[in-house]
Amino acid sequence: MSKIQEIIAQYGNKQGGIIEAYHAVQKEYNYLPNEAVTEAAKVFGVSEAQAYGVATFYSYLAVEPRGKYIIRMCESAPCHVAGADEVIKAIESELGIKVGETTADGKFTLELTECIGQCQATPVITVNSEPIFDVTPQQIPEILKAYK
Ligand code: FES
Repeated sequence: MSKIQEIIAQYGNKQGGIIEAYHAVQKEYNYLPNEAVTEAAKVFGVSEAQAYGVATFYSYLAVEPRGKYIIRMCESAPCHVAGADEVIKAIESELGIKVGETTADGKFTLELTECIGQCQATPVITVNSEPIFDVTPQQIPEILKAYK
């Protein structure tokens, strides 16, 4: 049994277990490898197309490989007004990727997020869900250095 099979088997007899199983796989791999989708189809008795549909329906599940560090820029109005666009540009130019992409070394993925409830310290980014507050474009190289 592969590791993915083992993880999915743990949720096999739970109602709605497919989503929990995907979560557990993603926690381990940072995304859902193909094998997770084919295996879930088998275990939960649905077609592969249906299993894939579930995987792509939820925005927090990813079917493409993602980086070790997931950077999310808050895009909601208060962060936007506070200069989120400029921060995104700084991250894109520092990492050489666009929003939605992953660096070639597999280290960083850049994504957008809705308000994370920290509007008192806009703009906010998160790195693997850890928030960083009052970010300026000038700080980006320094912030990212800590993860390189
Ligand atoms: S709008 Fe960005 S944290 Fe609320």
